[in-house]
Amino acid sequence: MVAKVVVKLGGGLITDKSSIKTPRLDIIDSICDEISNLVSSGNSVIIVHGAGSYGHLLAKKWSLSQGLRKDFSQQQREAVQIVRSDMRELSSLVSKSLRDRGLETITFPPSEWAKNTGDSFEGDVSMFDSFHGNVVPITFGDIVNVDGAAEFGILSGDDLMARISIEIPSVTHCVFLLGDADGMMDKPPHLEGSKLIKLWKSGEFVETEHNTEQDVTGGIELKAERASLISKKVEEVWFINGNCPERLSELLTDGTTIGTKIVG
Ligand code: IPE
Repeated sequence: MVAKVVVKLGGGLITDKSSIKTPRLDIIDSICDEISNLVSSGNSVIIVHGAGSYGHLLAKKWSLSQGLRKDFSQQQREAVQIVRSDMRELSSLVSKSLRDRGLETITFPPSEWAKNTGDSFEGDVSMFDSFHGNVVPITFGDIVNVDGAAEFGILSGDDLMARISIEIPSVTHCVFLLGDADGMMDKPPHLEGSKLIKLWKSGEFVETEHNTEQDVTGGIELKAERASLISKKVEEVWFINGNCPERLSELLTDGTTIGTKIVG
């Protein structure tokens, strides 16, 4: 059976989150190698990626997730333009790596087609279903316009994952590639003794630690919430370690791999 896979490349995986605009090109390349393998085997792939240090640091500095503030609106509007352009730059690195491997890419920056934030954002995701074979559509977490006085807000890649996976009927797999763990852990991954949860049901307690230092969207909590929403519709929803991208092929061929399967 060929699969249609929606995959999120977390911003903490493809960039060094603590250092402004620092891509992890070796990781991007190894994930793109894997995506090219999946496509050569007849599967189709839709890519969503996060921001990491191409978005969160400036967004945090200028409180962009809270929308327009009267006291420094001018600096905020400038920062919005910079983050939008930085996100296109990061996306072009992903796209270049795929093209170097013989794939074609088409990029849809959300600031051009989406409005409002959260998983009920306004925007038609059906275009992601129009590409097959060698062509890989790409989108990413971005700063979008919002209704009302706030003017702009941050649309997370996790919300894009939810809408694309739920609204495109042929999606068989939805995979979140993480930067710092094998999947969802029972404690924050850097703590000693933290163990991989192999099967996670919505509502089950996990001790998490949200990095509010850098992260302006929801961290692992938002991912888990969106993943459980998706799992009501898509059978195979997984959190996998993006430093071991070969686990993607393993999942498609063997039906399982090291990671967390999310069940609705
Ligand atoms: C955030 O998108 C977008 C911006 C900050 C502009 P995500 O929420 O998908 O990004 P990561 O994966 O946490 O970096």
